[in-house]
Amino acid sequence: MPDADLVVHGAAELVVGPGGGVRDLELVEDGALAVENGRVAAVGPTDGVCREYPPERAGKTIDATGRTVLPGFVDPHTHALFTGDRSDEFVARIEGKTYTEIMEAGGGIPVTVEAVREASEDDLVDALCGQLDVMLAHGTTTAEVKSGYGLDTETELRMLAAIERADERHPVDLVPTFMGAHAVPEDTDTDEYVDQVVEDQLPAVADQGIAQFCDVFCEAGVFDVEQSRRVLEAGREHGLAPKIHAEEFSRIGGAQLAADLDATSADHLLQATVEDGRALAEAGVVPTLLPATAFALGEAYADPEPFLDAGAPLALGTDLNPSCFVHSMPFVVSLSCLRMGLGPETAIRGATHDAALALDPGDGTGPLADGAGTLAEGTAADLAVVDLPSHVHMAANAGTNRVDTVLADGDLVVADGEVLRGQWAGGEAAIGGDASDGAGGDGA
Ligand code: NIG
Ligand code: FE
Repeated sequence: MPDADLVVHGAAELVVGPGGGVRDLELVEDGALAVENGRVAAVGPTDGVCREYPPERAGKTIDATGRTVLPGFVDPHTHALFTGDRSDEFVARIEGKTYTEIMEAGGGIPVTVEAVREASEDDLVDALCGQLDVMLAHGTTTAEVKSGYGLDTETELRMLAAIERADERHPVDLVPTFMGAHAVPEDTDTDEYVDQVVEDQLPAVADQGIAQFCDVFCEAGVFDVEQSRRVLEAGREHGLAPKIHAEEFSRIGGAQLAADLDATSADHLLQATVEDGRALAEAGVVPTLLPATAFALGEAYADPEPFLDAGAPLALGTDLNPSCFVHSMPFVVSLSCLRMGLGPETAIRGATHDAALALDPGDGTGPLADGAGTLAEGTAADLAVVDLPSHVHMAANAGTNRVDTVLADGDLVVADGEVLRGQWAGGEAAIGGDASDGAGGDGA
């Protein structure tokens, strides 16, 4: 019988992946999982897995009794790469200012743009790795990260280069998105800026070869539908699959545009209608809801029903950015249940498999193709062990981090709730080195 590198056994509940309908999960009670060479070798009831892979012959074991094991979270929408400080805006929001009012008063994205333009590539890599450590501590093993705080060719390229270097250094797998059309630089005409994005930034980004998606902030007062279409069509010509910030503060037609362009995802959707839900579902665009943004900005939450009723799988993300300091996908799951009425199964699915779907360019590359968001034979061994007995308990626990163990590609990267960052801090040591004897395993 083969030996495993690692066996996780006795999980009160093991989340395998999506179930039959868009609201369902597949669960195993008293579940186990074996890991070989960074991939899942077997998954199922503890009896069967441990017969095939006896824990006493495994390199390492994790006793998950009383705990939930699930695929590492996939965060499909972040602006996690930023520098600077916008805490004054937090206070302004508490005093009742809206996102748009803050932007009009000189706050918002331009403040971060100024800071990022001054940051070196090394500074940016360190800043991003710092955010990724926090995300990893909450069980995220795959995350999308957008550029969009440069708004000029040089800085946008520097952001994407920093994302690539952070991906190489850090155990969280990154999916890079070019978002030169995140805002219009000060004293610039919007159409002229769209020309710059299309004629200067996009060709340079394509040459650099790092970005996988192109995103645009389609919003009243930012980029209208025609300007957004120009950006996304040009992105596609350069090999970047489209994503879109759509119908966030105003409903101007971004969801319909996403459907027309067969975009990979349409994100935010606070103002989207039943008609928009149907259009996205028919076109196979993944609606991606970001309830932490509504939470942080004091906006009304998106309604998930139009999308689910239309048969669309629903993705959930943090939208981590300087106006939404939320790193935690478990918190997003709780918020989705408590404030958007999602069932816990639907929410966990949206934070794992369906989030990977929102990062699937459809060409056989990307995290979904690697098995992100699912635990099945052959998928990447990315998983979280949560010190709660079921996904329902997870959804109910909104205020504390109960993730105690995380594996990324089979390597132990969080143990006893502690991020083992010595493995990658400073980018020196290789992942999977000497820390694998750390806490977390407890013998069989
Ligand atoms: O998705 N909507 C635009 N972009 C971000 C906010 C970015 C920022 O405020 O820095 C978002 O919410
Ligand atoms: Fe965003």
